[in-house]
Amino acid sequence: MAQEQLQAETQAGQQSLPRHVAIIMDGNGRWAKSRNLPRYMGHRAGVKSVRRVVEACRQRGIEALTLFAFSSENWRRPRIEVGLLMDLFVRTLKKEVHRLDQNNVRVRFIGDRSAFDPKLQKMMHAAEQKTADNTGLTLVIAANYGGRWDLVEATRRMAAQVAAGELEVDDIDSERLAGELCNAGLPEPDLFIRTGGEQRISNYLLWQLAYTELYFTDLLWPDFDAAAFDEALQSFARRQRRFGKTGDQVEQSRRA
Ligand code: FPP
Repeated sequence: MAQEQLQAETQAGQQSLPRHVAIIMDGNGRWAKSRNLPRYMGHRAGVKSVRRVVEACRQRGIEALTLFAFSSENWRRPRIEVGLLMDLFVRTLKKEVHRLDQNNVRVRFIGDRSAFDPKLQKMMHAAEQKTADNTGLTLVIAANYGGRWDLVEATRRMAAQVAAGELEVDDIDSERLAGELCNAGLPEPDLFIRTGGEQRISNYLLWQLAYTELYFTDLLWPDFDAAAFDEALQSFARRQRRFGKTGDQVEQSRRA
């Protein structure tokens, strides 16, 4: 194992604050339904939770937050809901990018954006450009993203490099593959949170979640606030991350 990776894992084994948090924001529809509101209102309320959690990450000094805003499977929803979600993304981007920039947040999008309206694609690109040099929280928005898609794209790129004689098959290892994936350059998520009561990964960052601590809550996403986020952080801080080692080994390197 590469020395840096070993060091990173030792540090991660000792840390009490995650460097990178990945969230599946589930439960908007049920939140709305329980109030006799259209599902869309749940998504709107969900944007407020996004704001709260981004602010909490900034205040607590977390380096990266990856939010699953729209999966590659979400196109299967009723057309009207997909359309309304797209409108919400556009309006949210218009409204929030300036403030995110002012707060030193770097915005990135992962996923196949070619399926989105060109206007939305342009806005995504502009948000990334505007905030590219910011040094605070990195906010990654997964939009039309799927973990399998990510792996297939990375494999295709490496295969093309092999075909072009730029890469040897023997040089393909996990580090090389990780470098081709979305979110390359960011630490792998230390903590995964899913709201809404389901206990699934749902084709999210499949490779990147290999050693991530998983945290599930029944709270619906619009009800997820800073206190709920802190509970997840506290749960994380209580866990011992072993990365395949024994608990005694981890304790020993913690004391060393
Ligand atoms: C899942 O709840 C939520 C989504 C598919 C959309 C998430 C979008 C937002 C929170 C708003 C925009 C976010 C950004 C970053 C601009 P669900 O509809 O599956 O809820 P249900 O399981 O109760 O039906």
